[in-house]
Amino acid sequence: MANSKEILVLGGAGYIGSHTIVELVKAGYQPVVADNAFNSSPECVTRIQNLLDRKIEFYQVDMRDKEGLRNVFSKHNFYAVIHLAGLKAVGESVQIPLSYYSINIGGTISLLEVMKEFKVFNIAFSSSAAVYGDPQFLPITEDHPTGRCANPYGRTKYFIEEIFKDLCKAEPEWNVFLLRYFNPVGAHESGVIGEDPRGIPNNLMPYVSQVCVGKREYLTIFGNDYDTHDGTGVRDYVHVVDLAAAHALAIDKMEGEHGCKIYNLGSGKGISVLDIIKEFEKASGNKVPYKIVDRRPGDVPKSYADVSLAEKELGWKTMKNLQEMCEDTWKWQSGNPSGFLKN
Ligand code: WQD
Repeated sequence: MANSKEILVLGGAGYIGSHTIVELVKAGYQPVVADNAFNSSPECVTRIQNLLDRKIEFYQVDMRDKEGLRNVFSKHNFYAVIHLAGLKAVGESVQIPLSYYSINIGGTISLLEVMKEFKVFNIAFSSSAAVYGDPQFLPITEDHPTGRCANPYGRTKYFIEEIFKDLCKAEPEWNVFLLRYFNPVGAHESGVIGEDPRGIPNNLMPYVSQVCVGKREYLTIFGNDYDTHDGTGVRDYVHVVDLAAAHALAIDKMEGEHGCKIYNLGSGKGISVLDIIKEFEKASGNKVPYKIVDRRPGDVPKSYADVSLAEKELGWKTMKNLQEMCEDTWKWQSGNPSGFLKN
């Protein structure tokens, strides 16, 4: 029987959020989107509706606006919240830390206070591998120390995790799933939704795809003198559709649970910058010109996940490989060369 459960997806008009809406509908849930549209576009919700051939309710609201949130909660009977909202650019967080703390942490506190008012205690939170800082061992397990983050963005994720842990200790009715994303990439196979960063992309994959579509002249590789198989940085890339599916599985798991659970969401494989370039050239049929410069401050040499806990407890396994990550990114980018956000 279809789940008639309503799920509020905060940040649902964004990259991860839009793909999560699709997976929630596939799993029989009724997602409702709330987004401040700062780093996303309402156009994205229209595309999701066309893709799914169904109406998706959308509220343009900032999570720091408690009255705005109350208005949304009062119109629905949410079973759970998936919290994906917040600023997420590592470099930018160093320049404007107060905005990151105000929006990411202040906004989360406002959300939790309104959830409590409406007795909604089920929440999945978009955390990040950034909470681990420079890994002390690999692959990274969920019990790896956290908090030695290299930047304010990572620290907001760490502080929010600590808020959730304290909340669960003080108020046992809370049911919290902390989902630590590694490096989400790719796009829905339709090419209708994908990553649409505002301005110059901070992350590798969107930058590479913009070089291939002729929007950027060349890729700058931040260092090739790391202790890795080819000297360039190694990360754990995970297809955004696989990542989105994990959110539906987390909601499935919430029934009858309480407390705070933590899961790594990655592929479990370490892939280098040069590996990505090679695969993307195959997928696009275009060369990716690049220049090698010094390391980017705050970068870690190598990071990849142990994902056995999510597999065991959520029944989650990644289904898509690096080739599909690049092919799906290319299909999205080449179909939407200029993107939607002001660039
Ligand atoms: C990947 C690799 C770079 C750009 C960050 C956040 C994480 C999450 C994902 C939000 C590194 C290299 C990159 C470029 C390059 N944030 N690179 N040239 O830094 O692993 O993770 O983004 O969701 O929480 O910490 O991702 O894509 O920036 O970098 O050489 O133009 O690509 O040095 O080795 P990162 P990234």
